[in-house]
Amino acid sequence: MTILHIDSSINGENSASRAISRSIVEQVRGGADTVLRRDLVSEPLPHLTLGAFADSTVLDEFLAADTVVIGAPMYNFTLPTQLKAWLDRILIAGRTFRYTESGPEGLAGGKRVIVALARGGFYDAGSPAAAFEHLESYLRGVFNFIGIEPEFVAADGLAIGPEQRAISIEQALGRTVRLAA
Ligand SMILES: Cc1cc2nc3c(=O)[nH]c(=O)nc-3n(C[C@H](O)[C@H](O)[C@H](O)COP(=O)(O)O)c2cc1C
Repeated sequence: MTILHIDSSINGENSASRAISRSIVEQVRGGADTVLRRDLVSEPLPHLTLGAFADSTVLDEFLAADTVVIGAPMYNFTLPTQLKAWLDRILIAGRTFRYTESGPEGLAGGKRVIVALARGGFYDAGSPAAAFEHLESYLRGVFNFIGIEPEFVAADGLAIGPEQRAISIEQALGRTVRLAA
């Protein structure tokens, strides 16, 4: 089995999403598994251009993976631009989705996608900030569009204060245990 491990936080060793994505990989990997690493901060992908469509390296890597683990922090209510540049390379008509007479159809099913979310605030349904949540909702929509139901492990309220941050990260790390294949 091949696991693709992606991170997109700019916060290095202090990153919550990196700590959680690392824990997820530890939980889901078996002894014989191959783990491919794509750090979108140390090796960023350029913004999308028409010319970029000629290179399918990123798409092929995604399609070949059985499990994809993504560290996704919330920056300005949505995903880091580094992660958007990666998504721009895997949402490809004819490869991961197609349009049919009855609407769009996802072509990338059969893969497990697990996302480690890290957010400074709380965005639960019904809360005042819920309408600003464009990270989890966006990623769910995008992966659903290509035929995948993503799983999420979230650490929230990380900017509230050090105590809340420690509690939220510890709880999220604890929840990764349930992801073991
Ligand atoms: C540039 C930047 C923008 C941020 N914007 C938001 C935001 O819009 N909403 C929010 O809840 N938290 C926001 N935060 C807080 C982060 O989501 C929080 O610090 C989280 O821990 C980031 O994940 P990381 O530690 O993996 O980088 C922002 C943080 C940074 C650095």
